[in-house]
Amino acid sequence: MISYKDLGLVNTREMFAKAVKGGYAIPAFNFNNMEQLQAIIMAAAETKSPVILQVSKGARNYANSTLLRYMAEGAVAYAKELGWEHPQIVLHLDHGDSYELCKDCIDMGFSSVMIDASSKPFEENIEISKKVADYAHKYDVTVEAELGVLAGVEDDVASEKSHYTRPEEVIEFSTRSGCDSLAISVGTSHGAYKFKPEQCTVDPQTGKLVPPPLAFDVLHEIEKKLPGFPIVLHGSSSVPQEYVDMCNKYGGNLPNAIGIPEEQLREAAKSAVCKINIDSDSRLAMTGAIRKHLAENPSHFDPRQYLKPARDAMKEMYIHKIINVLGSDGKAE
Ligand code: G3H
Ligand code: 13P
Ligand code: ZN
Repeated sequence: MISYKDLGLVNTREMFAKAVKGGYAIPAFNFNNMEQLQAIIMAAAETKSPVILQVSKGARNYANSTLLRYMAEGAVAYAKELGWEHPQIVLHLDHGDSYELCKDCIDMGFSSVMIDASSKPFEENIEISKKVADYAHKYDVTVEAELGVLAGVEDDVASEKSHYTRPEEVIEFSTRSGCDSLAISVGTSHGAYKFKPEQCTVDPQTGKLVPPPLAFDVLHEIEKKLPGFPIVLHGSSSVPQEYVDMCNKYGGNLPNAIGIPEEQLREAAKSAVCKINIDSDSRLAMTGAIRKHLAENPSHFDPRQYLKPARDAMKEMYIHKIINVLGSDGKAE
């Protein structure tokens, strides 16, 4: 059993409480490799923002769980080396799909886990989430559970179409499951294709496609039912046009990629939403920068030559999110 406390990590309890009160959100950035981790830690250290390092089941299989435990420990040491005296870093399992996976991660040094049983019937979701929470809480690990289903990645395991969280269910769910935070469905979805062009309207001034707004009425109803309770937004990449264009200009093919407008995420961060998940934007920044570099430097074959600009692009994107979207800068001095 490896305790996250021995790795210098923290759980989400205190940072969420502060974020809800302070009207900002904590960034939860997914990572799969060293360059993404470096960029996240550089951005968090530079802005003194608490940060959640998020690892999916696929990322854990890709990176190896033993290596991940040392990467997390190394991330804390690296943050200090960068001059961040008291780093607030969480290692979080994203979309854990079973009790066994959550337990394994807790035993390997994760300070927070998500049990995603949102595709299961209500009672079963409560039962499995509670089983995870009971185990996690023995070790002071915090637990995110989910109610409602997002479109996209969860479609594989879930329903055919997304459906919003039902506010009338959230009190019973959070009380009986014992979860510490609740992921909800209010119109976001995973990946770079969140809306079809025909769902959008055209901004007459810029000519850009404007997607339908998130269901803020549902979010506010949930907030009223659970005052002060930490709410989580998945699928919150904004799919910056600049990176999509960069990918497409240098040989990519990402037609009609559309994300969540940043103004809406900013508004959500001011509410009880205290964790915002971003993965696709990092993938786009990295891929765009690599494509551009290799197209402009066809003779390069040392990975450091193209991974450095990729890392720089991700770092710049993370800093932008922290300062201009989530408002978490300076909250972990
Ligand atoms: O929510 C899903 C995350 O973006 C992780 O994706 O399962 O491909 O690692 P992944
Ligand atoms: P995006 O695909 O919008 O980045 O969402 C990531 C996510 O929710 C990870 O759990
Ligand atoms: Zn997610």
